[in-house]
Amino acid sequence: MDVITAVKTRISTRAFLPDAVPQSDIQEILDIARYSPSSSNLQPWGTIVVTGAEKQAISDLAIKAFKSQAPSEEGDYPIYPKDLPQKYQDRRAGVGKGMYELMGIKRDDMAARMNWVIDNYNFYGAPVAVFFTIDRLHGRNQWASLGMFMQTVCLVAEAKGYATCMQEIWAQVRDSVHKQLELDENDVIYAGMALGKADPDAPVNTLRTEREAVDGFAKFVGF
Ligand SMILES: Cc1cc2nc3c(=O)[nH]c(=O)nc-3n(C[C@H](O)[C@H](O)[C@H](O)COP(=O)(O)O)c2cc1C
Repeated sequence: MDVITAVKTRISTRAFLPDAVPQSDIQEILDIARYSPSSSNLQPWGTIVVTGAEKQAISDLAIKAFKSQAPSEEGDYPIYPKDLPQKYQDRRAGVGKGMYELMGIKRDDMAARMNWVIDNYNFYGAPVAVFFTIDRLHGRNQWASLGMFMQTVCLVAEAKGYATCMQEIWAQVRDSVHKQLELDENDVIYAGMALGKADPDAPVNTLRTEREAVDGFAKFVGF
């Protein structure tokens, strides 16, 4: 698969088949993704790849925290800035609307919407979870490099026939997962990622999100 096809076919997959992924495939994906660029080649990323009972234990603790309405553990790295401007709120709402419509979930069906969050914490049924970490001493430049690495992981996975969904929701339980995975004190979990084979029959996987046209975000100078 060429890179343009990988970029255009990758989507956030939100329903997976339970089929196990061989460790060697993930090893290979990471072995290629490590060629991602990073500022001054710091390669500031860390990954923890989790499956089986360990993955289930992480889902269990997150779901328990969610159900008990435990305070969010976003801490110094909130998922969204306060007072998100309307343009961004609209885009965010658009994704939720598209997903809920495809799954037949009504806007006021709070139970179904809660189940959806629980599904998020279950990695949407994916057999593999990947957590992306960064040393807390790093600033926004290195976090940008981490993001590039994550995208490369997604694209390589796509090229290898695997589906992914990046999941910032894990920021809400990052301290609990940190403890569960016995991470180094300085490591911060940025996000999780579900990885596996897409469920081809799940309506939610037909969601195709919109993008602003180039004119909306690019300025060409001197052409
Ligand atoms: C850093 C990052 C975190 C994300 N976190 C979540 C998440 O927690 N749950 C989820 O369902 N989707 C999550 N997404 C998926 C986005 O909603 C998705 O990328 C966006 O709507 C564009 O759709 P597409 O990925 O299908 O092109 C995340 C995406 C990124 C890049």
